[in-house]
Amino acid sequence: MSTMTIRRRLRLTATATALLLALVACGGGDDASSTASEDESASEDASATEEDSASEDESASEDASAAEGSGEGLIWVGLPDTASSARWEDFDRPAFEAAFDEAGLVADTDYIIANAEGDPQNQQTQAEQALTQGATVIVLTNLDSGSGAAIHEAAKAAGAAVIDYDRLTLDGQADFYVSFDNTRVGELQGETLVQCVEDAGIEEPNFVMLRGSPDDNNATLFGEGADSVLTPLESEGWTRVDDQAVPDWDNADAQTIFEQMLTGANNEIDAVLAANDGLGNAAIVAAQAQGLTDIQVTGQDATPQGLQNIALGTQCMTVYKSVNEEAAAAAEAAIALRNGEEVEADETVDNGTADVPSLLLDPVAITAENLSDPIDDGFVALEDVCTGDVAETEFCTSQ
Ligand code: BGC
Repeated sequence: MSTMTIRRRLRLTATATALLLALVACGGGDDASSTASEDESASEDASATEEDSASEDESASEDASAAEGSGEGLIWVGLPDTASSARWEDFDRPAFEAAFDEAGLVADTDYIIANAEGDPQNQQTQAEQALTQGATVIVLTNLDSGSGAAIHEAAKAAGAAVIDYDRLTLDGQADFYVSFDNTRVGELQGETLVQCVEDAGIEEPNFVMLRGSPDDNNATLFGEGADSVLTPLESEGWTRVDDQAVPDWDNADAQTIFEQMLTGANNEIDAVLAANDGLGNAAIVAAQAQGLTDIQVTGQDATPQGLQNIALGTQCMTVYKSVNEEAAAAAEAAIALRNGEEVEADETVDNGTADVPSLLLDPVAITAENLSDPIDDGFVALEDVCTGDVAETEFCTSQ
C-alpha cells in the first residue's frame, strides 16, 4: 500500500446520478488530504470517469474511496425547523443519517444533525458550538441569508468548509451548494395548476398566490417560476385577486392569510398557487370551512399530507423532490470536503458575491395520475398515505 499523500477532487453531477464519483488523483503535494493507506474500499469507485488520471498515480483505484470517512472533525448539519414542512425531520434527517451511516460515519462522533426550530439565533449558537467541538464541515439550511452568512463567516474563521443545503445563502461563502432547480419547481406548480383549472372546467379563474417565506431564497425562485407561467395568463382571462408571502412558511398564519383572502374576494377564488404542501393544506382547510370544495390548490414536498389531499381530490398537485438524493449528494460532498478534497460540479450558482459550484436536481410534478411515484420510489410509505378516510379513496383501494 502506498503511503503517498494525494489530492483528490470529487465531481458531483446531476446527469448520471448524484452519487457518481469522478475522482482525480493528482500526484503528491497536498497534505490536507488523506493518505492512500487509509483508504480501503477502492472498488466501489472504479467508475472514475473521463477526468480520471489514474495513470499519474498507480494507487488511484485504491484511493477511490472518497465516500469513506477518513477525514477528521465533525460534520455538522443544520436543519431549519420542524414546522414549515414535514420534510426536514421526516425526510432530510433520516436521509442524512442513512448516507453517513453507509459511509461508516458515527453519529455524535463524526456527525451531528441539529434543528434550529425556526430560530436563526439558535441556529447560529448550534453552529458555533459545533465549530467549538471541532467541526470541519458545516452543512447549512439557513433560516435567512443574513444569519446564514454569519454562520459561514464563523465556519471560515474556524477553517471549516461550508455546504449550502437546499437554500442558498446570499452573499455567503459556501464551497458547494446542493438543491433542486427551484425555478423549475415554481414552473411545475404554475403549469400543473393551469392544467387542473382546465380539467375542472373553470373558465376565467380568480387565483391567488400563497408564497413561501420572504427570507427564503428558494421562495423567491419558486415565485419567479410560478409567475413566469401565470402572469402571461392575466391577459387571457385569469385574475390575480390576491398575492401574499407567508413569513417563515408558518402554516397557521397561512390559514389566517387565506381566510382573509377569501373574505376579501367574497369567496370567489378558484385557484391557489400555494408554495408547499403545508401552505396548500392551510388553504384547503380554510376553503372547506366555507363549504368551497372546487378550489384548485398546489403544493410541494410530496409529504404524506399532500399526497393524501391529492388522493382525496382536494389538492391538485405537489412537487416531488427526491430528498434522499439531495441529502446523499450533500453527505457525499461533506465527506469529501472533510477528507480535504475539492468538490466540483457542472454548474455554478451566483450567490451575489461568488459563483458557487452547485448540484441542482430535477423536481417532478405529482398529480392524481402519478400519485404512486413517490411511494414506488421508497420516499413515502403507502401506510403513511392510506390512513383514515384516505384508505377509502380509489387510489388506496386500488393499491
Ligand atoms: C424548501 C421546501 C420547503 C420550504 C419550507 C424551502 O426552502 O425547498 O422544500 O417546503 O423551504 O420548509
